[in-house]
Amino acid sequence: MSIVYDLVIHNINLATINDSDDSYGVIKNAGICIKDGKIAKIIPNITEAAGELETEEAIDGQGKWMTPGLIDCHTHLVYGGNRANEFEMRLEGASYEEIAKAGGGIVSTVKATRETGKKELFNLAAKRLSYLIDEGVTTVEIKSGYGLDLETEQKMLEIAKELEDFSPVEVSKTFLGAHAVPVEYKDKADDYIELVCETMMPVLAEKGLIDCVDAFCEGIGFSEAQTRRVFEKAKSLDLPVKLHAEQLSDLGGSRLACEFDAWSVDHLEFLNPEDVAKLKEKDVVATLLPGAFYFLSETKLPPIEALRQQQVPIAIATDSNPGSSPCLSLLLVMNMAATFFKLTPLEALKGTTINAAKALNRDDRVGSIEEGKQADLVIWDIDSPAELVYRIGGNPCKTVIKNGEVVLSR
Ligand code: NIG
Ligand code: FE
Repeated sequence: MSIVYDLVIHNINLATINDSDDSYGVIKNAGICIKDGKIAKIIPNITEAAGELETEEAIDGQGKWMTPGLIDCHTHLVYGGNRANEFEMRLEGASYEEIAKAGGGIVSTVKATRETGKKELFNLAAKRLSYLIDEGVTTVEIKSGYGLDLETEQKMLEIAKELEDFSPVEVSKTFLGAHAVPVEYKDKADDYIELVCETMMPVLAEKGLIDCVDAFCEGIGFSEAQTRRVFEKAKSLDLPVKLHAEQLSDLGGSRLACEFDAWSVDHLEFLNPEDVAKLKEKDVVATLLPGAFYFLSETKLPPIEALRQQQVPIAIATDSNPGSSPCLSLLLVMNMAATFFKLTPLEALKGTTINAAKALNRDDRVGSIEEGKQADLVIWDIDSPAELVYRIGGNPCKTVIKNGEVVLSR
């Protein structure tokens, strides 16, 4: 008996972004057959086979391009307030670190997030997420870290979970209790880490709210020893880890993360090129965040050439947050990765598809167009895949498909 597909998209050019080779994985004039939310069959030169296919629904791709659904693997989408005032202060000469030390920075967003009701916080985050979806994002990572007490960290992670239930994306929920020291623990960072490890993490893990544990290993965040404690606790609870590492200085965070088989290390401007081999050895993804680099007017570049030479998978993400990257465009960040970090358009696109999937440990089911994977797909009104990275503004996204369902069409 022949299969009746749920949806067939024909007359479309695919950039499949397979992991195995160094190309876009182009298949021209293809047909893509979807059944039960998965990619059941990919047919090159569909015109010859079209008549033989049985399907509930068909879409003419009109010769446009299709990529895998984009993946934003590092965001802080749930927060109250904004920090436009600090942006003004920085333009008048204050540094990000000076503002943080003076009681601004992360802890000012903590205050606003604690004060904002759950429904309002959900609505704010849902609105931000809608901009990402508009540009073809079908998987997103969302961190806590602006609560810094059990109640508010839980509120943030519950919102991340509800966003998955009420939006056409899947969400990877990251517990970032070790983001900053809250005011009530001023000068008692070790006591705060104790709270993170012995109260927050076990309770939130028990509630199924943690997919991965993150920390901010930095002079204005937590030391290597404190981060190690967080990771040891995560390990004892069978939770994977990832790390904000080497953004403003080199505290050896990436080396530590490798010890704990992290999913990814993120930022990396100050990563020592000698540590890059470790990332490769432990299969840890290097996630670059050009939006934060841009918004903080940083000048030190991550060791791109060393990452490339050692063939470390490079992911790209928005780092969407109110302080260092108030950015809601993954396409713009891909352009920044090319212009600031000199990534090739192919590297930038792999960074938001297959390598971002690896950074969330989901590459077995998302991140590329392959038979058997989830039908998370985007149709773009472009003439070549590189155009996605080349453009600045003007959204070429026409259709977004999540698990085989058309969730956006314009
Ligand atoms: O990824 N580095 C730490 N966390 C965020 C910034 C958070 C903030 O300033 O609110 C980041 O850049
Ligand atoms: Fe971040």
